[in-house]
Amino acid sequence: MKTFISPDYQQLSEAVAKNVIDCVNAKPNALICIAGGDTPLGVFAALVEAQKQGRVDFSQTQFLGLDEWLGLGKADKGSCREMVWSHFFDKLTLRDEQICFFDGLTDSPQAECQRVDGYIAQHGPIDCIVLGIGMNGHIGFNEPGASLNNTCHVIDLDPITQTVSVKYFGTARDVKQGISLGLKTILAAENIVLMASGEKKADIVAQTVNALASNAIPSTLVKTAKRAALYVDKAAASAL
Ligand code: PGA
Repeated sequence: MKTFISPDYQQLSEAVAKNVIDCVNAKPNALICIAGGDTPLGVFAALVEAQKQGRVDFSQTQFLGLDEWLGLGKADKGSCREMVWSHFFDKLTLRDEQICFFDGLTDSPQAECQRVDGYIAQHGPIDCIVLGIGMNGHIGFNEPGASLNNTCHVIDLDPITQTVSVKYFGTARDVKQGISLGLKTILAAENIVLMASGEKKADIVAQTVNALASNAIPSTLVKTAKRAALYVDKAAASAL
């Protein structure tokens, strides 16, 4: 897996955005999946700016959500839906049919998994996926030990993920489960961009690069994919 180190977060975000833009320019109806969370916020901003400047046209692009906290919806600050819409989708003027995103408020998480799996069967495989790396190496909500055979599924969240989640919600919330694309779907993507920023990610970035690929640290599995790259800023690369 090739590693690209940018001097700072801004340049990291622009480098990842360029990867997505190249994908869409080569295939306007590409299926793109970009994680929620803090890491991709700069990528969203760079992509919105690129569309404004006419460097990319998302009018035919399909967007797929990576994951969601079960029990949270758009009105909940820090839900994946709230973050991705407010920083990205709302600024691109997309049509509803261009977006497939988990509904965290669903009464039937299993039916929701089937719905999204059905969408992927129709539109997939994913052409380009941008993933953050969790503090425990999770990708999406595929926590340490996750099965490589999983497609969309419901997950009992790892205690580390539950602790980290406070930064999104601004307060502790009783969120115990998530719903996520599985490793099978993620690793089948044509192009995987793994991204991390800041010194707090330096240790897990070094483990991702140095450890053997295994589901003990899901981010290491990206190294087994056909086309994958790690994009980090200097701070996140500081333990390499
Ligand atoms: P972050 O989260 O981008 O907010 O650091 C990444 C993750 O936990 O998947």
